[in-house]
Amino acid sequence: MKDRRKILSLGYLGLAIVVAIVFVAIYGIDRRPAPTPAPALSAAKTAEPPPASTAWPDYSSNGFGFVAPAGPDGALIGSGYELITRTFAVIGPDVADADKRFAGNNLACQSCHLDAGTKRTALPLVGIFGTYPKYSARSGRVISLAERIDECMTRSMNGRALPPSSPEMAGFLAYLRFLSGPEPVRQSPAPSPPEQANVARGEEVYGSICAACHQPNGMGLRWGSAADGRGYRFPPLWGPDSFNDGAGMDRYERAVGFILHNMPRGVDPAHPQLTLQQAWDVTAFLQTKPRPHYEPVR
Ligand code: HEC
Ligand code: HEC
Repeated sequence: MKDRRKILSLGYLGLAIVVAIVFVAIYGIDRRPAPTPAPALSAAKTAEPPPASTAWPDYSSNGFGFVAPAGPDGALIGSGYELITRTFAVIGPDVADADKRFAGNNLACQSCHLDAGTKRTALPLVGIFGTYPKYSARSGRVISLAERIDECMTRSMNGRALPPSSPEMAGFLAYLRFLSGPEPVRQSPAPSPPEQANVARGEEVYGSICAACHQPNGMGLRWGSAADGRGYRFPPLWGPDSFNDGAGMDRYERAVGFILHNMPRGVDPAHPQLTLQQAWDVTAFLQTKPRPHYEPVR
């Protein structure tokens, strides 16, 4: 009888350790108060989180698609995937719950971080989890991953920062941790153009190639109608519902590389359809267009 109790309590200890490991895996870098009991936490201090898969995921329409993993954090990871791919529908400016209107435009994170952040040439979010906290030249100090997410929330999404303890921030972090296994890849900035970028030539490129999807007026094409919260089939490239002038996509170096390797959408990044000169010219044209102004204090 005594032995059985011993085995049972050993069993509970084992369970506590497993719970603790999973907890650290999800909330490892997060300094919010722990929702699990303190003894479990201290038991996990020496334990390593279980390693995420090292295979590069492919959530494009050619891939196998995203499947939320089984286990206690599966639902949270799934919510993060939803937030990245259908941002406008969860925290966009037109969602029913006014308290959840964190984003100021109807883009999705994956409007730029293509294929839910898994496309190598399109600002991939794979493998970046472990690189934070890290020094940010823009902020002039070390920032957390949550702070980096908020930079895209306030600039690319023209919205406001997420409360650190919100389920949305937890979802984003859980999803990015889920993608943390492979080594991150960073694209080097696009090389300089053969000739100086030219707005008039860029306008021609826009009219003959980009306008078919992004529309001649640059406002993109919605799935449904304005203010229905269903987002865009082709996102706007300027105007009130675009990223603001503080966003990375409003910088030449970032925009040229992104456009060259990923646009028109569907192009093989190894064999771009645009020449380097065209990518610079069309970016110069985009730079002349209006977009919301970034307000640092919100
Ligand atoms: C308009 C385009 C755009 C949108 C929309 C956008 N981002 Fe970004 N994001 C960028 C650019 C550009 C960078 C800078 C990449 C770099 O520095 O190489 C970036 C960087 C990041 C990084 C840091 C990546 C790294 O390598 O360290 C994270 C995390 C991130 N974005 C998350 C998000 C999330 C979450 C959303 C949605 C809420 C979002 N982004 C929406 C353009 C965008
Ligand atoms: C075949 C349709 C198509 C064409 C043509 C096309 N795009 Fe896109 N573009 C898209 C889609 C779709 C997205 C959003 C990605 C997604 O939803 O998967 C996008 C996203 C973008 C983005 C980032 C998101 C945003 O709202 O700013 C930029 C910048 C961009 N395109 C620029 C261009 C430029 C410049 C051209 C012309 C050289 C071009 N695109 C041609 C379909 C297209």
